[in-house]
Formats: sequence, C-alpha cells, structure tokens
Amino acid sequence: MIFTKQAYDYLLSIVTNGKISSIDINTYISSLIEGVPTLPATQVTGTRKDAQIAGVIALAESLGEHRNILEIGCSKGHLAAEYAKAHPEANITAIDVDEAVIETAKREHPKVIFEQADAWQYQPDTTLQLILSLHGCGNLTDRVIELAVENKANVICVPCCYGKIKRRDNQKSPIYLPRSNILQVDKNTFKNVVARRAAKMEGFVTTHKPTLPAVQLAAFRLLVNFDRAFYLQENGYQVKIAEVTTKYIPGSKSLNTPLRYAIIGKNDTHS
Ligand SMILES: C[S@@+](CC[C@H](N)C(=O)[O-])C[C@H]1O[C@@H](n2cnc3c(N)ncnc32)[C@H](O)[C@@H]1O
Repeated sequence: MIFTKQAYDYLLSIVTNGKISSIDINTYISSLIEGVPTLPATQVTGTRKDAQIAGVIALAESLGEHRNILEIGCSKGHLAAEYAKAHPEANITAIDVDEAVIETAKREHPKVIFEQADAWQYQPDTTLQLILSLHGCGNLTDRVIELAVENKANVICVPCCYGKIKRRDNQKSPIYLPRSNILQVDKNTFKNVVARRAAKMEGFVTTHKPTLPAVQLAAFRLLVNFDRAFYLQENGYQVKIAEVTTKYIPGSKSLNTPLRYAIIGKNDTHS
C-alpha cells in the first residue's frame, strides 16, 4: 500500500470532527492496516509477547530471506532467540542499552550474539538486510528506522510509548517528528495536535474497547506512524502497517493491546 497525504488529511479531519462516530473512524483505520500474518497454530497459545514475537518473525519471513539481522532494544533476547531458532543460517545480533538484561540474554541464549550498546551511538560493522524492534519506546523506533535507511535494510518495528516522543527541546532524543518532507508544511499541526494528543491520551484511555476516546487515540497514533511511513517511502521503501497479533489471543491473560501494529519497510534496492 502507499501512504498518501490525502489519507493522512482525511484521518485527521475525521478524528478531529466531533460529529463522526467511533465506528466510522475505526472502519477507516482498519482499511489502512493489514491483517495479522498467518502463524502456525502452535505459536499463538503462549503469552501475548510470544504471539507478538511469532508475528514479527512471520512478517520478516514475508519480506524474503535475510542473512544479517540486527535487533534493537532486545531486552532479555526472546525475539532474537526465536528468530535464531527458526533461521539457524542467519547471523543475528541483538543490542540493548541495559547491561543487566544483556547479561541475562547471553546466559539464557548462548547461540545469539548480544551486545550492550546504545542505539543512538551504534553503527553496525556489517551489511544488514533486516532490522527488527519490538516495542522500541518513543523515538527509539525512529532511530531504528534511521539505521534501516542508512543501511538500506528492510525494517520491522512495533512502536510504543508515544508519550516519550520528543515534543520539547529539553527532551533527550536528537530526532524531532515529523521527519518526512511531505509533513513539513503541517509541522505545527503534527506537533500540537497529532503528537500531543497521541502522547496526552496515552494512559488515560481504556483501549480494550472501541469507545470514542480509544478509537481517537488509535487514530492519533496511526497519524504519528504516517510520518514514519512517509519518511520510509521518501527513502525508497514500500511500507505497510500490519497487526502482529489478533485482538484475541487464546491463553493470554490480556485480550487486547493497541500496541500490536508493526511498521514494515521493504527497501526497494534490497535483493
Ligand atoms: C519496552 S522495552 C521492549 C523490550 C523487548 N523488545 C520486548 O518487546 O519485550 C524497550 C527496550 O529498549 C531498550 N532501550 C531503550 N533505549 C535504548 C537505546 N538507546 N539503545 C538500545 N536499547 C534501548 C530498553 O533497555 C528496553 O529493554
């Protein structure tokens, strides 16, 4: 699919128009998001995170074969370990800034290369074909996307913590959204309406039911991800946003999470 400014403008107009129903907004959001990838039945019975990991791996497989893979923000290494199990021929390096989780990851998954490293400083020492990130908080997702663009690598990232996206100069991240060229004309609306409402509504809205505030929050988050999609498209990527898991996960205590959408970028020059 191609993310267009018309679709961005339309979603923004309906979410800020008090007269449009949550059902109509939800229907439009659903039309922009692809369904969950088909998973082997055995992979959807674990925890919610297990299912998300299986979904990310299935999406990666849908992009073709990858030899050198980097995971950013790997924590204790479950995604990297599952990827390595499914693809023993791949070279996967997984990094996290937190030394303690990297020690645990190394102990629990000796077959994967784990490194304690800050993604903002990190430069890969090999050509990468794929970069993965599951729940890279705030602008960490944008660093993941930046590294993918710099390396012409495919990318799959599941964003979270929209409240941590930089909106003030005193925040640490070097990245300011919107970063796409196409949204520069709408920079102020993006900052003062889209990013602000995605941030402010987080944590105050019950997102497990399609109430109007929940649907509005989903729309503002999706509008933030439009900027990420535009930026990738402007850098030669085909982009999709897809669910990594279904809403209902058998065996999971929690039935639903709104943080289950992956941005998938396929680099057009990637062979
Ligand atoms: C929300 S957790 C997600 C962990 C794991 N991917 C998962 O899905 O369970 C975000 C992770 O990113 C790591 N992180 C945060 N900033 C980072 C940075 N600058 N460089 C590398 N890792 C970072 C954190 O230490 C944390 O483990």
